[in-house]
Amino acid sequence: MNDSNVIDSSVLQRQGPLAAYQARLASGELRFDPDQERVVKSFNQLWMQLGNLPPRRSAPRPGLLTGLLRRVKPEPQVKRPRGLYLVGRVGRGKTMLMDLFFECVPLQRKERIHFLRFMQDVHKTLYDMKRSHPNMADPIPPLAKNIASRVDLLCFDEFQINDIADAMILGRLFEALFAEGVIIVTTSNTVPGELFQNRPGADAFKPFIAIIHRELDTVELDSPRDYRRGRQQEQTTWITPADSQAKKCLDEIFEKYAAGQEARPYTIQLSGRTFEVDQAAGSVARFSFTSLCEQPRGPGDYIALAKQFPVILIDDVRVIGDEETNLARRFITVIDALYDNGNLLFVSAEASPDELFTTGEGADAFARTASRLAEMGSESWLERGAQAARAAHSAL
Ligand SMILES: Nc1ncnc2c1ncn2[C@@H]1O[C@H](COP(=O)(O)OP(=O)(O)OP(=O)(O)O)[C@@H](O)[C@H]1O
Ligand SMILES: [Mg+2]
Repeated sequence: MNDSNVIDSSVLQRQGPLAAYQARLASGELRFDPDQERVVKSFNQLWMQLGNLPPRRSAPRPGLLTGLLRRVKPEPQVKRPRGLYLVGRVGRGKTMLMDLFFECVPLQRKERIHFLRFMQDVHKTLYDMKRSHPNMADPIPPLAKNIASRVDLLCFDEFQINDIADAMILGRLFEALFAEGVIIVTTSNTVPGELFQNRPGADAFKPFIAIIHRELDTVELDSPRDYRRGRQQEQTTWITPADSQAKKCLDEIFEKYAAGQEARPYTIQLSGRTFEVDQAAGSVARFSFTSLCEQPRGPGDYIALAKQFPVILIDDVRVIGDEETNLARRFITVIDALYDNGNLLFVSAEASPDELFTTGEGADAFARTASRLAEMGSESWLERGAQAARAAHSAL
């Protein structure tokens, strides 16, 4: 943990994002970047507006989506500031800047959540509501009311629309959240106008894009550099080619994190289904690329895996064909889940991350995955991940 992380959050809340950003530049933690500074100024403005917000309801209860069916009192309409939609290419500092802003926001009722995780919660809650109240005509308004009863500000990292089911829920959910006065701030790699485009059902999604334009200011971050690449080290987290030497290397890494436990197949229990791990022991899980990515699995499965095993090994990652867009998307989802959770990842592969999927549909999104994989091989990543693995092991 660096020094700025241990600064009391009340100090940050008084300083605001611009002063906090400047302090990190002065300490050498960050390099000056004029484009980032411009974005921080937008965040600073919103921070000032949020500081002047009149108080809303009290008594938040734990958990963003729990306790849905309790009655929520109507509240008077208050004019809310517009949210922000921060978009830019990979590794430009979007997440870092949004997190800095989030820490500075002087509201109690704020939540920062990875967008995939938020959608998992939404699906689960809708499912539970339908089961316990089969006659409920439309669960989305009460869901939105409940979220609004506990948060004024929702910050999403990596807003993305992956499937039609999410696309259909989100338009109505966001509309209801905005009507309730919730302020949304999000990062994304995709400009609003291109979300879920060129996909079946894209037309039905267009009104949602209009809502985003209406409610959020889009701010682009286009720094000249990918900061992840700057810190890339020569590490053996990504081993090519996937030959017998690479396998031996992964065997050794597995043994290290298995910490004396025997490797065996393992079943992760999920609500209503299971997820089979090829080999697991201690804090490590190991898969072939085929069994991890060539089955119909979704973000919930990969998030559960990431949470349960701090160290993941994948054997024999292969080059993905242009037509294999589902496979590419699944691999992106795996890496997003592991990256967001801070896992250690060791891979044997046919080619480098940059060469795995270069021209098929979704190759742009894959570029972010390659950038992330670079960061997941950096020294600081390995240090943090190893700490988490040790902590998990001592808790076993
Ligand atoms: N000005 C800077 N100086 C030094 N390091 C930086 C700077 N900006 C960002 N970084 C670091 O670069 C890495 C990538 O930044 P970040 O994760 O915020 O990028 P991102 O734009 O969210 O990327 P993605 O689109 O892939 O999510 C982070 O570890 C971050 O702390
Ligand atoms: Mg990010």
